[in-house]
Amino acid sequence: MVEVNEERRQVQSNGGCRYHHSYVIFTILLIMSLCYYVVIYDNSETWKATVGLLFQKTLHNKTSNESLNAVSRGIASPTTVSRGIVSPTTVSRGISAEPWKPPDPYYVAYPYKYSFVINEPEKCQKENTFVVLIIPVSPGNVAARDAIRSTWGTEKVVADKTVSFLFLIGLPTSQDSEKLQEDLLQESEKHYDLLQSDFWDSYYNLTIKTVVMLEWLSAYCQNAHYAMKIDSDIFLNVKKLVNMLLPAPKQNYMTGLVARSAMVLRDPHSKWYLPKTVYSPFHYPPYALGLGYVFSLDLAGKLIEAAQLVKPVYIEDVYIGMCMNHLGIDLTDPPDGSLFNVFPVEYNRCRYSKLIATTTQSLTNQVNFWRDLQTPGPYC
Ligand SMILES: *[C@@H]1O[C@H](CO)[C@@H](O)[C@H](O)[C@H]1NC(C)=O
Ligand SMILES: *[C@@H]1O[C@H](CO)[C@@H](O)[C@H](O)[C@H]1NC(C)=O
Ligand SMILES: *[C@@H]1O[C@H](CO)[C@@H](O)[C@H](O)[C@H]1NC(C)=O
Repeated sequence: MVEVNEERRQVQSNGGCRYHHSYVIFTILLIMSLCYYVVIYDNSETWKATVGLLFQKTLHNKTSNESLNAVSRGIASPTTVSRGIVSPTTVSRGISAEPWKPPDPYYVAYPYKYSFVINEPEKCQKENTFVVLIIPVSPGNVAARDAIRSTWGTEKVVADKTVSFLFLIGLPTSQDSEKLQEDLLQESEKHYDLLQSDFWDSYYNLTIKTVVMLEWLSAYCQNAHYAMKIDSDIFLNVKKLVNMLLPAPKQNYMTGLVARSAMVLRDPHSKWYLPKTVYSPFHYPPYALGLGYVFSLDLAGKLIEAAQLVKPVYIEDVYIGMCMNHLGIDLTDPPDGSLFNVFPVEYNRCRYSKLIATTTQSLTNQVNFWRDLQTPGPYC
């Protein structure tokens, strides 16, 4: 703020026009600071990533046109929790982890022949699934899985259509990975809702997780009409989701919170830095934010084919956007701009009865909001 004041003083002496310009920047910075203040108390990775990115950008180059663009872009930015570098070394079939070192920056180990350790190959056939929800989650996060199992995971049939869900995990890499793996097998035998593939589950391997999801859908769930990738910290209104999908296209359809013209960050210090050698255009192609995107099942196979040719980046939702771009298939904007929310929406029955997905600030909120919405009585 000190910098801003100095800038203001300087500009004030330069005349009215410049003053107005500076005033706009000051206001924007003030808003961004307020956002940042809220963000540090927030639990949602997605939201943190989004606002953190904009704020960082604004601070680092607040006088450039680019930073103003970044602010006016709003949510149109690479906003996933996935970022990092993936080792191209051979897949370890065991469940013990070695300390990981980046051998080749920005390289993601895909395509690669990963296989399933825990599978539910008949889920979609048995349940005659209309839409399958795939929830990437870390192996140790039982709390998030139990929260979903007791809330939106219980909504199995809506308007005569079956909604199935499965959690997607990789191999545990923590010190107690053997114990965790045993627990996971037990959890699977109890709930039959886990998919586990043999890549190391880490923050940096989320692009692999997403493509493995597509492989599973393509191999075991072709009879379903739609799939949704949804993060584990999201409140989902299953009824609204099904209502949106009933009249939706059956092919080449992907929707969610669609970011268009998001800029590629070239500052090597940025958390979301991508060098030109990995991706040279100025903007990312349109992509649906990773918090929750929905697509017709035909896309699973098409995207896997594209993924054999499109060089992987570690930002999973951006990567899916790149593959869509490669296929020449446009993303579809949702019928209503308030259906998918990357910023936690303050709870009120009316608003929540009308949205499909929103980031929440805590698991407790996620559970309580869902429960409240199930109680009888008018929504609005
Ligand atoms: C800041 O913006 C200016 C003008 O757009 C640009 O020349 C400069 O490279 C930018 N600096 C950084 C660190 O992005
Ligand atoms: C900023 O934008 C204005 C108008 O779009 C343009 O004339 C100017 O050259 C830009 N400045 C920089 C540093 O890019
Ligand atoms: C990602 O998974 C692959 C395959 O298991 C592994 O070789 C690599 O080390 C993992 N990367 C990270 C960052 O965990």
